[in-house]
Amino acid sequence: MTDTDRRAADFGYRQVPLGDKQALVDDVFRSVARRYDLMNDLMSFGLHRAWKDMLVTAVDPPKTAPFAHLDIAGGTGDVAMRVLQAGGEQTRVTVCDINADMLAVGRARAAAKRLSEAMRFVEANAEALPFPDRSFDAATIAFGIRNVTHIEAALAEAFRVLRIGGKFLCLEFSVVDVPGLDRLYDLYSFNVIPALGRAVVGDAESYRYLVESIRRFPNPQAFAGMMRAAGFARVAHQTMSGGIVALHSGWRL
Ligand SMILES: C[S@@+](CC[C@H](N)C(=O)[O-])C[C@H]1O[C@@H](n2cnc3c(N)ncnc32)[C@H](O)[C@@H]1O
Repeated sequence: MTDTDRRAADFGYRQVPLGDKQALVDDVFRSVARRYDLMNDLMSFGLHRAWKDMLVTAVDPPKTAPFAHLDIAGGTGDVAMRVLQAGGEQTRVTVCDINADMLAVGRARAAAKRLSEAMRFVEANAEALPFPDRSFDAATIAFGIRNVTHIEAALAEAFRVLRIGGKFLCLEFSVVDVPGLDRLYDLYSFNVIPALGRAVVGDAESYRYLVESIRRFPNPQAFAGMMRAAGFARVAHQTMSGGIVALHSGWRL
């Protein structure tokens, strides 16, 4: 029995057949779309902002040159808006997500902030991106890859759409590696987060799924191996907040 299986048994995870996973994920994000960003603030005590800022710092969009950025599984456009803010006037961002409800929230927010010209929202599966080869300078995916059914296919697509010299950054929950914090983190995740989900979006189950999906995601070393197998070079990762999240990076060279 692996560590993940043991934890799964401890917490009574649901077994979701691979074929049903995308439908379950779609239901989860349809249910939470309107209050998704508020829930992120509440669940992470605002920390998701600092993690996303680290991601955008690593993207490092230029101030004075054209820059085409793709945010995969970009949801409500939170990361893409931060990339726009960090970049120059010639920065353009594409938010791609499989869920129309998440994109609709993002599109409305972009319009309210008068960002519609620099942003586009595209409904698509990360496993089959509707973009030409080598069309982006950088690609990100934040808290999205663990929701994708075939991770290898999504990594291959991210690699395909990057230009040579482009970078890929993936922010994802990871494995807490601070003794004591791990147990506390489990208790918080499996008790407080579903309760928050019930109170704020009227849906505990969706947040229970999200917590379970974090525990099922490969550890950073295994994920680094998947990135290399997809073709990425100079693959590296750094963990943050005691291992709660990891920022993975790789280049198309
Ligand atoms: C936890 S949210 C992250 C949203 C955003 N990146 C952020 O950090 O705020 C996960 C997103 O992944 C999207 N998603 C799940 N499976 C996907 C797939 N196969 N292709 C594209 N997007 C997907 C969901 O619709 C959802 O918007």
